[in-house]
Amino acid sequence: MTDKTFSWHKDEDGIAIITMDVPGETMNTLRDSFNDEVVDILAEIKADSSLKGAVLASGKPDSFIAGADITMLAACKTAQDAENISRSGHKVLAMFEELSIPVVAAIHGPCLGGGLEVALACDYRIGSDAPSTIVGLPESQLGLLPGGGGTQRLPQIVGVAKGLELMLAGKQLRAKQATKLGILDESVPNSVLVQVAKKWALKGKRGTIEPKLSGINKALEATPIGRNVIYDQAAKQAYKKTQGNYPAVEKIIDVVKTGREQGMDKGLVAEAKAFGELVSSPESAALRSIFFATTAMKKETGAGDVQPRKVNKAMVLGGGLMGGGIASVSALKAKVPTRIKDIAEQGLQNALAYTYKQVDQRVKRKQISASQRDKQMSLLSTTTTYSGVKDVDIVIEAVFEDLNLKHQMVKDVEANCNDNTIFASNTSSLPIGQIAEAAQRPENVVGLHYFSPVEKMPLVEIIAHEKTSAETIATTVKLAKRQGKTPIVVQDGAGFYVNRILALYMNEAANLILDGEPIEQLDKAIVKFGFPVGPVTLLDEVGIDVGAKIAPILTKELGDRFAAPVAFDKLLADDRKGKKNGRGFYQFDSKKKGAKPVDESVYQVLGVTPAGKLSQDELAERCTVQMLNEAVRCLEEGIIASARDGDIGAIFGIGFPPFLGGPFRYIDTLGAKVLVEKLNKYQGQFGDRFAPAAKLVEMAESGARFHTD
Ligand SMILES: NC(=O)c1ccc[n+]([C@@H]2O[C@H](COP(=O)([O-])OP(=O)(O)OC[C@H]3O[C@@H](n4cnc5c(N)ncnc54)[C@H](O)[C@@H]3O)[C@@H](O)[C@H]2O)c1
Repeated sequence: MTDKTFSWHKDEDGIAIITMDVPGETMNTLRDSFNDEVVDILAEIKADSSLKGAVLASGKPDSFIAGADITMLAACKTAQDAENISRSGHKVLAMFEELSIPVVAAIHGPCLGGGLEVALACDYRIGSDAPSTIVGLPESQLGLLPGGGGTQRLPQIVGVAKGLELMLAGKQLRAKQATKLGILDESVPNSVLVQVAKKWALKGKRGTIEPKLSGINKALEATPIGRNVIYDQAAKQAYKKTQGNYPAVEKIIDVVKTGREQGMDKGLVAEAKAFGELVSSPESAALRSIFFATTAMKKETGAGDVQPRKVNKAMVLGGGLMGGGIASVSALKAKVPTRIKDIAEQGLQNALAYTYKQVDQRVKRKQISASQRDKQMSLLSTTTTYSGVKDVDIVIEAVFEDLNLKHQMVKDVEANCNDNTIFASNTSSLPIGQIAEAAQRPENVVGLHYFSPVEKMPLVEIIAHEKTSAETIATTVKLAKRQGKTPIVVQDGAGFYVNRILALYMNEAANLILDGEPIEQLDKAIVKFGFPVGPVTLLDEVGIDVGAKIAPILTKELGDRFAAPVAFDKLLADDRKGKKNGRGFYQFDSKKKGAKPVDESVYQVLGVTPAGKLSQDELAERCTVQMLNEAVRCLEEGIIASARDGDIGAIFGIGFPPFLGGPFRYIDTLGAKVLVEKLNKYQGQFGDRFAPAAKLVEMAESGARFHTD
């Protein structure tokens, strides 16, 4: 094995085949330490006047270049260090462009971030039509911008409007879509990829590219005034999503504008400078920490060295809202044959329809064929009895939330399945230990808590009770990953982790409404803080009745701070359950465009007159400090194993603002001392529900942090 990443040879047709193959890795990622190698190779190629063209390909079976290696950014001490990385990347890529022979990127597998930037510096890009071939500039998702010339070269190919759209959203495209936009020149089967790339290499150097523009964009892009409209629109639309919390957005727009209006050289200088600034921004550091955490979690079994058992067949008990979703991710994502059992035909039909709707949509979008859809659906079967379930490896129950019923399910499964069958409960509030009391084999019982809608929400909590075996945990973790989820393993206890920290925050929102704070202002303040929706909108979505059921359970198990304000009983007495019955805090039948108006009659029901006294920051602070404080208690009690898991659980389960890196990272930013001071102040004003967690007080005194990186 050579220690070099790049190699080249001249083939029989006089084409230089340059291969990238990072030694010892399954994926190719870019590092600035490769620059010298590339410079040497390009000098050799330049010196060989017999060459007619060059093809850049990957030596890996399934990865072109997955991006830049972002661990190298952690080594940057200053913005200038990161700016320098970008500038030296620019120099190397300019050498590709300046070769007198055409260079063609032959792309199979992920071609993202820095990978696409390398390909954009080539004359032509040919992609394989394999589903693993995806192209895009997703840097904004890490709080960065493309620092290898992507902000300049992509708009040259697809136009300013499309380029901004792709970069701001960090969109990843399949080969077919990328070809349509002109990012790829052709997509072909992988078996002929290099051969086709060689043909393109013989076409000669490429001239300037004219983006394929149509309609309004064609007119707008033609003039500086028109392009200003595009920049403004992009900024406005982005702001709606980011609320100004993600500095990469503005910088991407600025840098694209500089390049388009003042020329590429100035654009590249601006790009490198902005890249440097973003690398050293706290927002990007937080977003990168999420990336590192989830990457590490992918490798963990959830149970140390214990290996998971194979899951070849699953059963879902209950085909309702959650059961339907769980069956769909089991079949479509994990590709596990899944038997759905319900007592009611209606439940079975509902579950099948749930999955069918998703696969059929893919047929309508021409992503899969009708026969592929039918094949995927054939992984699901239904029953109203326990027939055909002896060999299931795991049962996931999603029947009504009733302890006696769950006990019956445990007994049924033990009687009808086998000794190794795992019993995973999707309960939202019942302690798993209590469910396991009905089991003869409690080591097989575990909690597997999904969030609604199952196919969209990325998190699951895997809950071990005292007797759950390590093998059961590892097997459940593995299945959850196959279902496309990010699992965190938590210990048993009311509300587990996510609902527990959510409950206190929601209660505080309720208290603020009762203090007379206007509902829409409260929701707006929380969205401005960075959550995807406000707490009142969320309560309407989840169901006011659901919240009312959970609060007493948490209060009984964990203490009075969880008690929902008594006045909220009046909402249920007024038959307000939220979206499900069309009566809640907001008007569900409103025909008005834009955000739903508040149903003002709700104030009367609650006996308050709305009058906003607090600022947006104060509103957000009162709710969020409750969540932060409770998250620390969960760590203190061992409900979560680490601050990292707590951060990921809150971001993926509730939508805690990713740019803050999760509750624990945010506490580190604030400082435990500052948080304790805030909590003490509120405790003085509103009572013990704000009493700071002991661990937090301790950390405030010692100056300790949750994260050391
Ligand atoms: N709805 C949520 O957002 C959510 C989120 C996380 C967890 N949960 C939990 O998931 C579970 C199910 O919730 P849901 O919202 O899907 O309920 P649901 O009412 O939509 O569905 C329950 C289904 O269970 C079926 N069922 C009842 N008794 C059964 C039995 N003996 N055998 C087989 N099937 C039976 C019912 O016919 C129904 O189809 C509950 O424990 C709930 O706490 C719900």
